[in-house]
Amino acid sequence: MSSTITSRLCRTLLVLCIAFFATSQSLPNSFPHIYPGAPSGDYSPEWQSYFEVTDALPNVTFPLTRSFAGNLPVQRAGHPNDTLFFWAFEHQNGSLTSNSSNDPWGIWLNGGPGSSSMAGMFFENGPMHINGDYSMASNTEFSWDTVADYVWIDQPVGTGFSTADEDGYISGEDQMGTDFLGFLDNLVKVFPSLATRPLHITGESYAGTYIPYILKAYFESPNPPVTIVKIAIGDGSVGSGPEFQDLPAVTVIETYPQLINYDPEVFKYFEEQSHLCGYDVNLTYPQNGTIPTLKYVPSIYDSDDASSFSNRQKFSKNFRNRSFRSRLLSRFQERSEMEELRPFTKSTHFRKREERRQEWVRSKRDLTGRANGTIDTRYGCDLLDEFIDYAINFTFPWTLSQPDGGVFDVYNIPDALDPEVPIDASVFLNDNRTRSAIHAPTSKDWVLDFDFPFGSLAGNDPSPEPMTFLTELATNATGKSVGFVFFSGNDDSLIAHRGTEVVIQNTTFGGIQGFTRKPATPWTDDSGNLAGIVHQERNWTYVLFKGAGHLVAATAPEAAKVFLQQFVFGNNQTGLVTDSTVIGGEDPTLAEDVMPGSDPIFYGSMSTESSTIWPEATRAAWTSFIRTETAIATSLPISSPDAGTSTSGTQA
Ligand SMILES: *[C@@H]1O[C@H](CO)[C@@H](O)[C@H](O)[C@H]1NC(C)=O
Ligand SMILES: *[C@@H]1O[C@H](CO)[C@@H](O)[C@H](O)[C@H]1NC(C)=O
Ligand SMILES: *[C@@H]1O[C@H](CO)[C@@H](O)[C@H](O)[C@H]1NC(C)=O
Ligand SMILES: *[C@@H]1O[C@H](CO)[C@@H](O)[C@H](O)[C@H]1NC(C)=O
Ligand SMILES: *[C@@H]1O[C@H](CO)[C@@H](O)[C@H](O)[C@H]1NC(C)=O
Ligand SMILES: *[C@@H]1O[C@H](CO)[C@@H](O)[C@H](O)[C@H]1NC(C)=O
Ligand SMILES: *[C@@H]1O[C@H](CO)[C@@H](O)[C@H](O)[C@H]1NC(C)=O
Ligand SMILES: *[C@@H]1O[C@H](CO)[C@@H](O)[C@H](O)[C@H]1NC(C)=O
Ligand SMILES: *[C@@H]1O[C@H](CO)[C@@H](O)[C@H](O)[C@H]1NC(C)=O
Ligand SMILES: *[C@@H]1O[C@H](CO)[C@@H](O)[C@H](O)[C@H]1NC(C)=O
Ligand SMILES: *[C@@H]1O[C@H](CO)[C@@H](O)[C@H](O)[C@H]1NC(C)=O
Ligand SMILES: *[C@@H]1O[C@H](CO)[C@@H](O)[C@H](O)[C@H]1NC(C)=O
Repeated sequence: MSSTITSRLCRTLLVLCIAFFATSQSLPNSFPHIYPGAPSGDYSPEWQSYFEVTDALPNVTFPLTRSFAGNLPVQRAGHPNDTLFFWAFEHQNGSLTSNSSNDPWGIWLNGGPGSSSMAGMFFENGPMHINGDYSMASNTEFSWDTVADYVWIDQPVGTGFSTADEDGYISGEDQMGTDFLGFLDNLVKVFPSLATRPLHITGESYAGTYIPYILKAYFESPNPPVTIVKIAIGDGSVGSGPEFQDLPAVTVIETYPQLINYDPEVFKYFEEQSHLCGYDVNLTYPQNGTIPTLKYVPSIYDSDDASSFSNRQKFSKNFRNRSFRSRLLSRFQERSEMEELRPFTKSTHFRKREERRQEWVRSKRDLTGRANGTIDTRYGCDLLDEFIDYAINFTFPWTLSQPDGGVFDVYNIPDALDPEVPIDASVFLNDNRTRSAIHAPTSKDWVLDFDFPFGSLAGNDPSPEPMTFLTELATNATGKSVGFVFFSGNDDSLIAHRGTEVVIQNTTFGGIQGFTRKPATPWTDDSGNLAGIVHQERNWTYVLFKGAGHLVAATAPEAAKVFLQQFVFGNNQTGLVTDSTVIGGEDPTLAEDVMPGSDPIFYGSMSTESSTIWPEATRAAWTSFIRTETAIATSLPISSPDAGTSTSGTQA
């Protein structure tokens, strides 16, 4: 079964499942666990010793900085069991409990919707990493608490180890924001210095929806409990579904032409589909006028639920189906079962793959019957699904996965491992020793992806995307000197950087719409390697990571830490546009819409067994084709720093 058919089936089934669930059962009910030693009365610094993680954690054999964990209520009237779970690591011994500290601090949020931020802790930017075989590795060198006191928080209520009454789930993003501030109000009662210390809220993916709504709630609060100075969103869902998923399709293919076998004819096909869908938005620096709302033509296969869900809902649902490789993991489980029935050795498996490779290299991709001059009804404007299917149908090594379940890693294009390395923290977190050490609830088990963050609406977010109020948010932020950072992994295909660039160019911040110059300044990691592009204007920073996927800190840990130090917590001016120059210079080869990806695509069963690189001649032919094909776009000169930026007095 092709992955599209499966995913469509899943989508349809999900709707059915939810309908069934909502009518036949109640939603989960959970509540925090009160461990011995809990002080009585309201939250206060007295609770620090209760929350401190002092028991040994299973499998952790290396030293960790002091940490504090547990649940705190969000203070929603009538819902005392609505809590958020936090796990806070100290930057230095005593830094979180100090009364006199003015040091900055940070929060990390994963997305989903419904993904636990423990995913970030254990697979991205926390001090402990769980390996594919469930053993524990130290990540204390790159963990984000090496930069500041850092708090990983499961939210909204019901997600991860956070708890919720069965009728206490959020009804939308405004309630999510209010809940979050209610939680923070309790957190600062326990750690009072956090109220005034500069807060940096960071997160990724669907946190691109959460964080702007949290900031909105903060600006709407007459008396906010904390002092936010910066937000940083990685590969975030700030724009509409079509904007972050489908508009970037041609950019993604141009970054990784391997997806289409470096075939110019197929590229032109996708360019045409993109144009017909109105996704070939032309960005100018600065941008002139609001970019019209993107339309979305659904696939004929989606028409069954198109009437019952708005586009936004459809996309958050669609997005959830892909969230955190859940789709891939279930395939992995299916396959493990299959292998138990009919075991075959890794080397046999590998040889079969090579045979298939030869077969696919010989066979020609098939464009017969394809739409020509019209939108393909089979896909509509779901161009992400379409190029994934193209790769799975016609391109080695993705074709390999066809007989035993499609594996296309939307989060990291060059990774064609099948199955993927499992990412599973449930064994560690649900172990009773861990649970009691971190004061986690016993009324529920921890899961990576919670299915009902919006209660009976499940994963279907009823709120409009942050893009709709981003200019207003940015205006408020300028007034309060809150900086915005957007970062993207160049190898991510789910929320590719092009969509983020459209969001930036469609927003007025510091009185001007978008950036006034195209991002083209290189930055480097501590080893001096090119880490990507950085650009800064009027307290907005954009960072593109070379060689990083959706989970930026997982795929580029060293660069991610440098980024956090320099561009989120630090005041590094590389890429800053000033009156007369751009600090760090501009590299014309980076001033393209596309930063080329890596040549090899690697594959294997849970670990890299081999990789494939297309012949030199194929790649050279592609390079010369793409140069001509994109000549119109790239021949536009970057405006000179003096031209068009007469208002640059407002730049900082
Ligand atoms: C909260 O949880 C407790 C169990 O700890 C339960 O007795 C109580 O009924 C719950 N309250 C609500 C409002 O659900
Ligand atoms: C941290 O500081 C406390 C006192 O505040 C001390 O008791 C403890 O030993 C220190 N821990 C480490 C690891 O240095
Ligand atoms: C901006 O701030 C004002 C209060 O000053 C508030 O009424 C409004 O809702 C805020 N909007 C956003 C999007 O932050
Ligand atoms: C972008 O520019 C190209 C070339 O000028 C044009 O064909 C296309 O229609 C433009 N796209 C939009 C959405 O206006
Ligand atoms: C901006 O767009 C308006 C029409 O919307 C046009 O009149 C104006 O000339 C444009 N300005 C620039 C600098 O392109
Ligand atoms: C641009 O922003 C406006 C709001 O200012 C919004 O209505 C529109 O949908 C946005 N366009 C895109 C492509 O996001
Ligand atoms: C689409 O139509 C044009 C002529 O209108 C033709 O040259 C081209 O080969 C067709 N492409 C496909 C993929 O059928
Ligand atoms: C992939 O193959 C399936 C099954 O043959 C087909 O329905 C689908 O249209 C193909 N998709 C692409 C993009 O080639
Ligand atoms: C500890 O690590 C081993 C592998 O070394 C693993 O099998 C086991 O499940 C882990 N235990 C926990 C509680 O994570
Ligand atoms: C873990 O604790 C729960 C009660 O809190 C108990 O029901 C369960 O049996 C314990 N599991 C193990 C493996 O000890
Ligand atoms: C700014 O960050 C870059 C990282 O690309 C680094 O090379 C440079 O040394 C930093 N500048 C300062 C002043 O720290
Ligand atoms: C940028 O933020 C700094 C504080 O971090 C503030 O002093 C400055 O005025 C801001 N600049 C703009 C253009 O908002």
